[in-house]
Amino acid sequence: MDDELDSLQQMIEEDMRSIYSKTVIDHAMNPRNMGRLKDADGWARYTGPCGDTMEIWIKLSGDKIEQAGFFTDGCGTSIASGSMVTELATDKELDKALEISQNDVLAALDGLPEESEHCALLAATTLKLAISDYLSRLKEPWRKHYDRR
Ligand code: FES
Repeated sequence: MDDELDSLQQMIEEDMRSIYSKTVIDHAMNPRNMGRLKDADGWARYTGPCGDTMEIWIKLSGDKIEQAGFFTDGCGTSIASGSMVTELATDKELDKALEISQNDVLAALDGLPEESEHCALLAATTLKLAISDYLSRLKEPWRKHYDRR
């Protein structure tokens, strides 16, 4: 039975490797920065056209994103995309982090199958929204006291 399970697992892994890059598999199986950040400076929840939702939290130190966290109810490639976009954003100045695009996430993941490319867009869009949440909070600091995120 153990041998059968091992060979089934091997077949599944070979299948995945024929579709996804090593980086995608790594980030999907061992996501970085997963989870909510307490006392975040910026947060966004965004649902893409496919119906999957991503949340991103950011903490700032000066003008830099010191820490970013994410959560998604989406597929493995959206997990990989959330993991990668939070990695790309960490230690970036805000204006540079705002420039992180779907293509940047795709490039850092060594590509995604065409039908999954929108997962990278979901991640890049959610990051932008989290940054704009932070920027809007600068104008309305009282909002922090009513926060339920
Ligand atoms: Fe919707 Fe991946 S299928 S984000």
